[in-house]
Parts: sequence; C-alpha cells; structure tokens
Amino acid sequence: MAYLALYRVWRPQQFIDVVGQEKTVTALKNAVRESKLSHAYLFSGPRGTGKTSIAKILAKAVNCELKEQGEPCNDCSSCKDINNNTFMDVIEIDAASNRGIDEIRDLREKVRVLPAQGKVKVYIIDEVHMLTTEAFNALLKTLEEPPSSVLFILATTEHRKIPPTILSRCQNYTFHRLTDDEIVNRLKQVAKANSIEIEDESIKTISRRADGGMRDALSMLDQIYTYKGNNITKRDVMDVLGLIDDEFMAKLVGASINNDIILITKLLDSALKEGKESQQIAKETALYLRDLLFYKLLKEKAVLSTVSEHNIKILSEQEKSITKEKILEAIKLMLDTAERIKFSDGQKHLLEIAIINMATLLTSNKSEKEEINKQQHIPLDNDNEDQFQKNSEKNDTKDIIWSKILKEVKDKKIPTHALLAQGKLIGLKGDTLYIGYKKGYKFHKEKMEEKQNREILDQALEEVLGKKIEVQFIFLDDNQYNDIIVKKAIEYFGEEAVEIKE
Ligand SMILES: Nc1ncnc2c1ncn2[C@@H]1O[C@H](COP(=O)(O)OP(=O)(O)OP(=O)(O)O)[C@@H](O)[C@H]1O
Ligand SMILES: [Mg+2]
Ligand SMILES: [Zn+2]
Repeated sequence: MAYLALYRVWRPQQFIDVVGQEKTVTALKNAVRESKLSHAYLFSGPRGTGKTSIAKILAKAVNCELKEQGEPCNDCSSCKDINNNTFMDVIEIDAASNRGIDEIRDLREKVRVLPAQGKVKVYIIDEVHMLTTEAFNALLKTLEEPPSSVLFILATTEHRKIPPTILSRCQNYTFHRLTDDEIVNRLKQVAKANSIEIEDESIKTISRRADGGMRDALSMLDQIYTYKGNNITKRDVMDVLGLIDDEFMAKLVGASINNDIILITKLLDSALKEGKESQQIAKETALYLRDLLFYKLLKEKAVLSTVSEHNIKILSEQEKSITKEKILEAIKLMLDTAERIKFSDGQKHLLEIAIINMATLLTSNKSEKEEINKQQHIPLDNDNEDQFQKNSEKNDTKDIIWSKILKEVKDKKIPTHALLAQGKLIGLKGDTLYIGYKKGYKFHKEKMEEKQNREILDQALEEVLGKKIEVQFIFLDDNQYNDIIVKKAIEYFGEEAVEIKE
C-alpha cells in the first residue's frame, strides 16, 4: 500500500476527533442534532486548522443514516461514500485552481435538482476568496434564494477578501490557531500510534515551529519520520527541519555582545558549511533575541520560544548588559535581514554584515536617539576651508557632522552603517574626509573600502556636506603615526582623540 501522509491518516472523522475549535464544533453538532442548520456557512481561519476537515464531518453528519448526538457514524453507506469521495451529493469546488467560473455556473443550474443519493446536497467551496467577481455574483444569487436541502460550506484563509454581501448571507465561524499544548498532545498521540520514539523536547520544537497549524506540525513529524525512522533524536529534528540549536545561537549572540568579530565569522562559516540557510540563521537569531527580550522583561515567567531550559542561565547573563531598546532594534534588524535575504544573491554577505551590525548595536552604549536629537539643533558649518578643529566646541561640531553622516548612511543601508559606525571621523581637509579605524577593525575598514559601501557613503556625504567629497580610510595605529594625515590629525586634535585605547 502506498504511504499515506500522517496528516491525511489523522484527518478527524468525527467532531469528537477535532482538536480545539470547541465553539465551532459544539455549535455545529448541536445544530445537526436539533436540525437547526443554516443553509450557508463560512469557515475562516489560518491554514491547517481544521476548516476542510470540519466541512467534511458536517457533510457526513447531515447525510448520515444513523447519526447519533449530531455525530456521523462513519459506518453507513453515506458516510463511507463521503469518506471515499464517491458520494454524488457532496460536491467539492476548489476556487483556487480555476477560480470557479464554470463550476459556479454549473452550480446555479444543478443546485435546484434534488439530491440524488442522500438527504442534503452539500457544496464545499474551498479558498472561496479566490472566486472571480462573476463567480461571486453567481454564488450570491444562489445564496439569496437558497433551495431547500442544499448546504453551502465556504472556507477561506482570507476573511477580509470576502464581499460583505456574501458574509451577510452566511453563518460565520472563525477558526483559531491551535495552542502549543494542543499540538503537542496530538503529536504525542500520533507518535505513540506509530511507535515513534521522540523526546518531549523535540515534540515541543516541532509544535512551536508549526505556529498553530496542525497540518504543518504533522507534516514536519512525517518528514523527520520518513528520513530518520522510528528513533528520532533532537539532532534529527534540527537537521531535517534545517533548524539551528539554541546553543549555537547563544554563542553567536554572546560573540556579538563581546563584539568578537573573529568568533562571529567562525561561527557563521561553520553553520553555513553545515548547510544551514542564511535566511534561517537570521530568523533564528531574531527568535533567540525575542527570548532574550522576554527573559529580560519577565524573568522566569517568560515563555521561551527557542531557548531550552539548560540554556536559560546564559540568557540571564547576556540580558544584564543590554537594554530592551537595543534588543528590539536588533530583532528588527534580523527580521528585516531575513526578509531581504530572500531576494538577494549575496546572502552570506548580507547576513555577515547584519550580524556585525547587531554586534555594533549590542555593544555600543550611546543611544542612537541622543545622537539624532543632538544633531538636529546645531547648524553645520561646511564652508570652513579647514575643518580640522581645535577647541572642544568645534569638536562638538565634528560629532554632529559625524552623526549626520551616520544617520544618512543608515537610512540608505543598515549594513553599511554598521561598518562605518565602528570608524571615527578624523576630519576634513580640503575636499578629503579622513575616517580612522582602530587596528582591531580591519574587517570593517576593508569592507568600507569596497565599491558598494563607498558609493553609499559618497552619496551620504554629498547630502550632508553639500558637495562631492573624497574619502580616505586610515588605521589609527601606533606605527602609523608616521602617516602624514594622522600626524596632522594629532596636531589638530591632540594625541587623545587619535590614540587607540584597547
Ligand atoms: N483542529 C484540528 N484537529 C485535528 N487535526 C487537525 C485540525 N486541523 C487540522 N488538522 C490536521 O491537518 C490536516 C489538514 O486540515 P484541514 O484540511 O482541515 O485544514 P484547513 O483548515 O482546511 O487548511 P487549508 O486552509 O490549508 O485548507 C488534517 O487532515 C488533520 O490531520
Ligand atoms: Mg482546507
Ligand atoms: Zn453514517
């Protein structure tokens, strides 16, 4: 016998088999029992939460020869035929595949013909939001004058795309995402019935990833089971689903907090070599940061999405040195990156730069807001022939110019900003602007020298300074004190501003 996907085998056959959706189930069961059915229902809600399953159960219940307590028996010939898709009076229309024009036209003609085989003719129209306007209008006509012994069940994942005229003619039921517990329990039941050995923690991992969809949860289990057989380890789950374990995430975020670029690069390289996807790494980083944020805010009351029990200690360490604002910013950065990576060729580089940007965020103490506020009130003196400044007031101006430049670059491209922010504005001499990097920031300096990043900076400079400006990147190293520019800088700013303090 061909292998049947778990989610098909585990399609609920009676109302009592349905997980969650209690209100809907109770209301429908009572309506069947008391023969108080409406002629049209609309089921809306997320994918894989039971819409089609319940539509089928309802179709059986109204045609069942023995129905008890509103449940179909699954044993009479009507129930059996419906289960085998050979029942003439249950007609399924998939609006997604052909947008339904012919079917709905056909439906309008045939709907008044009495049921051939059963008691009630049932039309199940799936993905009903995909119908064309014409098909909707045709459907509406039918709903306006519903023939007796016809039941319409419309299902959709996009409730807001259903015209109000249709909504007002249906009884509406909203389907909800299933809870983690509901999914966990069903997965345990399925594992047991199939003699699958799998730890509770792995089941939790799957259910969290399913995000409330039972079909997705069962499909994931199926996929792992197909590859790995009956004994499923935590590693198997991570590998098959392409997930990244929280141990790795803890290291990556730890390295970012310490601004340890070498470790970051190493970790990323090893993960990518193992076949992890850049996008997945960005997403998992966002999830880990989400846990970090909730732990910071709620401590042991936090419900964590990816960090396992034995790594909570690491969270509590990491949380101490970072503000919630920084974590929020880092989450946004990672989500944006995950989104952008989808459409990018240079996935690895984008990820690398985003992580380094995150490190900058998590390391720096100065709040971005302060910088921006400061710069908005003080005018920029850009006619000054020689803008190497001597006194502290002028040094302030230099800070303001620098934060303007940084902001402009940030608006254009966040990763470039991350690289630039590690540098330091030394000054402007003639038409050349000098930006210095400490020795440890070789990576940043070299990346900034690449064409794509320079171009962003050039544009930003033109906007801030009002003219085209040459840029020189230099090292702020002891042994480069010979460098004429640095000498000059020291002359203007004093040793303090230029020296590296490790
Ligand atoms: N509430 C539920 N209780 C038990 N199993 C469920 C539930 N919802 C979904 N499932 C499982 O997922 C499979 C698919 O569910 P179903 O086709 O009913 O989802 P749906 O809401 O119609 O999804 P879609 O919007 O993608 O059509 C079922 O065969 C069953 O295995
Ligand atoms: Mg469906
Ligand atoms: Zn029956």
